[in-house]
Amino acid sequence: MAPWWHSAVVYQIYPRSFADSDGDGVGDLPGIVAHLDHLSALGVDVVWLSPAYRSPMDDNGYDISDYTDIDPLFGTLADLDALIAALHARGMKLVMDLVVNHTSDEHPWFVESRDVSSPKRDWYIWRPARAGHEPGTPGAEPTNWGSFFSGPAWHFDPASGQYYLHLFSAKQPDLNWENPAVRHAVHDMMRWWVERGVDGFRMDVINLISKTYPLVDGPVNGPGGLSYDPSLVVEGPRLHEFLRELNREVGIDDRELFSVGEMILVDVEQARSHTAADAHEVGMVFTFEHMSIDSGPGGLKWDVVPLHLPALKDNLARWQYGLAEEGWNSLYFENHDQPRSVSRFGDDSPEFRVASAKTLATTLHLLKGTPYVYQGQELGMTNAGFTTIEQYNDLESTRFFAEASASGGDPAPLLGAIAFKSRDNGRTPMQWDASPNAGFTTGKPWLAVTPNHVEVNAAAALADPGSVFHHYRALIELRHELEVVRHGRFELLLPEDEHLFCYTRTLGDEVLLVVANWSSAPVPLPGSGLPSLDGVQVLLGTHDATAGELAPWESRIYRLA
Ligand code: NOJ
Repeated sequence: MAPWWHSAVVYQIYPRSFADSDGDGVGDLPGIVAHLDHLSALGVDVVWLSPAYRSPMDDNGYDISDYTDIDPLFGTLADLDALIAALHARGMKLVMDLVVNHTSDEHPWFVESRDVSSPKRDWYIWRPARAGHEPGTPGAEPTNWGSFFSGPAWHFDPASGQYYLHLFSAKQPDLNWENPAVRHAVHDMMRWWVERGVDGFRMDVINLISKTYPLVDGPVNGPGGLSYDPSLVVEGPRLHEFLRELNREVGIDDRELFSVGEMILVDVEQARSHTAADAHEVGMVFTFEHMSIDSGPGGLKWDVVPLHLPALKDNLARWQYGLAEEGWNSLYFENHDQPRSVSRFGDDSPEFRVASAKTLATTLHLLKGTPYVYQGQELGMTNAGFTTIEQYNDLESTRFFAEASASGGDPAPLLGAIAFKSRDNGRTPMQWDASPNAGFTTGKPWLAVTPNHVEVNAAAALADPGSVFHHYRALIELRHELEVVRHGRFELLLPEDEHLFCYTRTLGDEVLLVVANWSSAPVPLPGSGLPSLDGVQVLLGTHDATAGELAPWESRIYRLA
């Protein structure tokens, strides 16, 4: 029997930006509980809650200082219990974010670890300065590794004269998973949440937990003489062992818990090795490959190149084929780390915003795997449109800007790249209605509300049967109703076509055909390369179908047999 989550659609909530119940300008747990009708109307099965734990908020909660408490900004443990109960009462499940590659530097484990004589010293990755260098001076870092948030991945601690490793910010020290006590503490904490009623975990950057020892310099390939060499930190030698142990100790498979591992730079073969049923590791992974498709040579995020549709199709198809027999795909175009897909891959002009948001949804939701809807995606929310660096909050964006402009970068193109790719594009407040602050808060929102909320909002979308929201609702319903959507075989058609994204899904004698125009101009349906459309039924479309042609951003799902 297929696991339950093969039929599920997940909705991601970034609590800071979803709904504020107390007027402090930051979303919170009671705010989520108050908006569950929205999720029931959409028809999703699972909520993935981005971190709401106690945190100094250096990285908006991905720096946790207490794994078993809720940050007062978001509410209390009782509020979390109320959220679990309310979701369960509606037949939905709750998946927590699990951030255990690193903690906050304010976590008591790390505070203790600063003391060289503490048993917790070995819970983190401490190293002396490079031989022959004065500790704390430039270049004395133990290795030349760069952090994902710019600058060196080592931070000097003058008290002990040593450095600790932080692959993200200096306030996010990496845990030492080689130490069994660390692993046991993580398993205990996860069991504690399962006992409390949570239904699974989204595992943050989980393929970084096993490092390759000894830690050595990598080839210099980043700014400032730094090395970004995935082979030194990604998919390390003990990763399978650590994941299998975690699965067994927490009962991921035994209790049929949901699990998705966020895996940086994972390829399809590695993904299969983590998600095959007999691997007993995780249910599915988040790949980044399709999120780098509009990055320049070398995969640098800020080096933006236009989307080449055949490359995206080729990539998604490789993952569909690669995990067809063994393993399972997660399907996403957005999350809290990505810009809005309608602005990135679609056309967010007033003329085509709705059609392109719907067509991106059709294309993604008819693939095989578990689809994720990121809050606001179901409304076709757009990028923020910020024009000055002061408008941004995200440390990744602000640090990149500071570093690149300090080394002589021209601010205008830097701001252009950030406006296109910044994580803050996905973090502006949820647009509930046309009122000031979009119904998100009665206070001052922590990040500016996007001005288009007067048109793009949940109240308007629910009232309009032709809205992006109702299209998502219909797609989710199709997945729930049709076995062929859940388990049909995928086949890509017209791989080289630069405007059309077409594929079939086949199960027994049932065949669905998806045709989608990914362009802002009409496109004739080609005479060859597609099955005959004579007399076939459109199951769901974005427009009133015209024979022989697709309107700009039109998509159709046909039932062929
Ligand atoms: C991935 C998370 O999705 C991102 O938001 C965070 O900054 C990093 N991991 C570090 O935890």
